[in-house]
Amino acid sequence: MAEEGAVRLHARYPARIRVDDEVELETVAERDAVDLFALTDRNREYLRRWLPWVDSTRSVADTRAFIERSREQVRREQGFQCAIRFRGELVGVIGFVYVDQVNGRAEIGYWISEAAQGRGVMTRACGALVHFAIESLGLNRVEIRADIDNRRSRAIPERLGFFQEAVLREAAITNGRYIDLAMYALLRRSWGHPTGEGPAKPLGGEGAVPPRKE
Ligand SMILES: CC(C)(COP(=O)(O)OP(=O)(O)OC[C@H]1O[C@@H](n2cnc3c(N)ncnc32)[C@H](O)[C@@H]1OP(=O)(O)O)[C@@H](O)C(=O)NCCC(=O)NCCS
Repeated sequence: MAEEGAVRLHARYPARIRVDDEVELETVAERDAVDLFALTDRNREYLRRWLPWVDSTRSVADTRAFIERSREQVRREQGFQCAIRFRGELVGVIGFVYVDQVNGRAEIGYWISEAAQGRGVMTRACGALVHFAIESLGLNRVEIRADIDNRRSRAIPERLGFFQEAVLREAAITNGRYIDLAMYALLRRSWGHPTGEGPAKPLGGEGAVPPRKE
């Protein structure tokens, strides 16, 4: 399909990842700009609590700029961003914050509309991207960082068997204040293991969690 070819800019990155019968990931493209901006705009108040870029996304042009940056990310072989479709409807975005092929690691970031929460869409989408990172890109380590207070976001790596390695103190700014980030990672050797990196760590709390002895 010509359109598909247009977004498949890198031989190792797919244009689409079919997650299951309900969820599909598709590399963001110019044609998504209007719908993606509308989704962001409808969910502005809910998203802005956790995501620093929401307030500066004021028009379709801003979403187009995001799409162009993600295409540049693909050209540079640093990962890709996907529209998440649930039963055919655009509900959010998931993608690589970065891909570091030299050191075999990557970080995943995501958001979904308020209405689409609670159905496991993001856990399924994230599981598919972790699988892609490990099995197709051959990476060794996948990271997820989340605001320490963002329990819904933290539950995703915990469900997928990630290990909480640390709390990064005041490592980001959201809504004008420094926030602590819970730092999760999953190693290739634990992927597919029934207990992942081990039992989920309790939510909340300050201070670094000592790394697990491996
Ligand atoms: C973080 C965010 C993606 C989490 O969304 P979510 O809907 O809670 O996550 P999931 O799609 O994985 O759904 C999990 C829920 O579906 C349920 N579920 C149903 N079927 C499921 C399945 N097959 N697999 C996993 N969970 C399933 C889970 O029990 C859980 O239920 P709960 O809401 O009662 O706890 C969403 O809240 C969001 O986008 N927030 C704003 C932006 C943001 O915070 N982004 C992250 C920045 S780090």
